[in-house]
Amino acid sequence: MGYRLTRRGILSGGALGAAASLTGCATGASSLAEAKGAFPPSADLPLFGPAEGQALLSRNENPYGPSPSALDAISKSATKGAYYTNAEAIQTLMKQIADRHGVAPEQIVVTTGSGEALSAIALVYGPKGPIVAPRLFWDTTSLYAANLGLASITRIPLTADMEIDYAGIEAAITPQTGMVQLCNPNNPTGLTTPGSVIRPAVASMAAKTTVVVDEAYIELTDDESAITCVPLVKEGKNVIITRTFSKIYGMAGIRVGYTISSAETAAKIRATVMSSAPCTSTAAAIACYNDEAFITYSKSKIVEGRQMVEATLATLGLPYLKSQTNFVYFQSGKPANDLQKAMAAEKISIRGQYMDYVPWSRVSMGKIEDVSRFCKTLPKLIGA
Ligand SMILES: Cc1ncc(COP(=O)(O)O)c(C=O)c1O
Repeated sequence: MGYRLTRRGILSGGALGAAASLTGCATGASSLAEAKGAFPPSADLPLFGPAEGQALLSRNENPYGPSPSALDAISKSATKGAYYTNAEAIQTLMKQIADRHGVAPEQIVVTTGSGEALSAIALVYGPKGPIVAPRLFWDTTSLYAANLGLASITRIPLTADMEIDYAGIEAAITPQTGMVQLCNPNNPTGLTTPGSVIRPAVASMAAKTTVVVDEAYIELTDDESAITCVPLVKEGKNVIITRTFSKIYGMAGIRVGYTISSAETAAKIRATVMSSAPCTSTAAAIACYNDEAFITYSKSKIVEGRQMVEATLATLGLPYLKSQTNFVYFQSGKPANDLQKAMAAEKISIRGQYMDYVPWSRVSMGKIEDVSRFCKTLPKLIGA
């Protein structure tokens, strides 16, 4: 009875292919030919990526990825998808990452996107005491721990020009602090703190507590090596860096991220993550990590889009924050949620309001033709 009900439920949900494959399994009548037809893609609503005609500029994705090198590795490794990923594959990726940053492989943890790493970090340090952070930052993973009752967040107001108040954050650290979480460049502001400012600030904080620096967008900046806090890890400071393949490498849906920290801290993070790396994503990351031609191309498309958006905003006289990322935080003169709605009617997705930052909208750099549509549509929607 249970089975019949389930089956009817699947049929009424429209996933006929899934039901067909269930039937095949139940009767033992499946063949490779049937299995191939078991999961037809829907014509009107794609299961992956934006719908036809939709400009997806709301999630800071990079549609210029994955690289051809990553795609080739995905299709080859998928043929071995019957097997759990070999430890040697993860070690290969750890070594590549470690070599680039000049640390030991045991200082690297590979995760399912950097979101998993940040969630694990929040679970490790959150229960000790408050997570001290800027008022506006990528707070999804701190909230994950907070929603489980395992952490709280102490938010420190931004400065008048929307920068992170490092002195204010340091002043809020107490012996009870669980950790400090920073994001450089910050999301959603897009503002980047130079190394000459963030490094001494983080070094000083790290003498008092663990400091996490989320560097998800750092490869998109003008001079990554001058901005990153990785040198602090190498100096033995109590600092954790998180990075991702979702942005410069255009692999948000493939899910690979990593942390750089002391080996001791890495062991704690490794013990807390909840999933293991798929063979396809591991193979993709190995293939594209040092694909300089793709990295240069990917960055050039993001910069091209950003320049288009900035030129549009400047022409319209709209205030915006100078970004070195694949998104721009700006004011259109309309409440963010109203602009989001008006854009949605034109099949353009942008972000709505963050917290109580009513006038601030965020647009991501998608495909150039989509960014162009945004630039052409914005004047119309604000009556310019
Ligand atoms: C600042 C920042 N950090 C981390 C992430 C998580 O990304 P992922 O889990 O895809 O690596 C995001 C996602 O947009 C982000 O904006």
